[in-house]
Amino acid sequence: LGALVEVSFIMKALLYVPEELTPLFFTPSYTSLTNEQRVSYNRLHGMYFLEQTIFFEQFLGKQGLQWLAKHAPSAYLRREAEEFIMEEDQHSAWFRELLREIDPHVYAKSDFHLLAAGDLQQAMMSKLSANVSRLPALLWLQLMAEERALHFGRCYLRHADEVDPRFMAVQRKHLADEPGHIRRDLLFLEWLWSATPAWLRRVNAWLLEWLLREFFLLPKRSGQRVLDHWLERHPELSSQRAVILSDWKALSQNTRFISSLYPRSALPKTSELASAWPELTFMNTFLTDP
Ligand SMILES: [Fe+2]
Ligand SMILES: [Fe+2]
Repeated sequence: LGALVEVSFIMKALLYVPEELTPLFFTPSYTSLTNEQRVSYNRLHGMYFLEQTIFFEQFLGKQGLQWLAKHAPSAYLRREAEEFIMEEDQHSAWFRELLREIDPHVYAKSDFHLLAAGDLQQAMMSKLSANVSRLPALLWLQLMAEERALHFGRCYLRHADEVDPRFMAVQRKHLADEPGHIRRDLLFLEWLWSATPAWLRRVNAWLLEWLLREFFLLPKRSGQRVLDHWLERHPELSSQRAVILSDWKALSQNTRFISSLYPRSALPKTSELASAWPELTFMNTFLTDP
């Protein structure tokens, strides 16, 4: 029996992302799926997760960092911004390389296949990011994204025996750099948020809350595309489709799922720094504890 258990363990298909970082895992439907169906969803979501990281690094943050590398008030801060850009380019290159290894055909021309961001959205995001001096809310988004990246990376480590070693390797490397990025995000925010007039800080705080709730909470666009792609690959699920979709819709009321997204314990720096600014009190209810 021991040998059998061992063989079935070796045969078990490896995941691309820990299950608890995927929305479908939180739905009742997940328990009725076969192992093969789960792994297939997991792998698609795991690839989307890499696409999302590239998008954050290349479009949400980069132009803003380039602005900081030119206009930050001290040579020290400007150099920090330059190093930051170089590291993020390197990270995107690791993730891009892995995606191309997994699916050379699909990722030959573009990094984004599952992520719902066309050329227009990419260009718009870059434009917004270049205006970080008027939109310091983007630096908060960046800090939150990096604290979450650290949190996700630790989650990968806890599930190292279930996850494909290639995905583990890039997450391990990424994890090593993230604390340095959080340190720099804090440096930039402490300077730029304080330097922003109170009225503009209030506008930015409102924008930040809206962006977080609209784009970075429920799986509305890209997460939905992952689900659609997966359902397309599994015609045998057609009779369960309606139930799966209604479970998916119910994620907005699923407290276990919602509280897994922005736990305060995973975003300690965001929580601490935001508490110094009255315009960011919404963070008290936005950040949850598991
Ligand atoms: Fe990164
Ligand atoms: Fe980073």
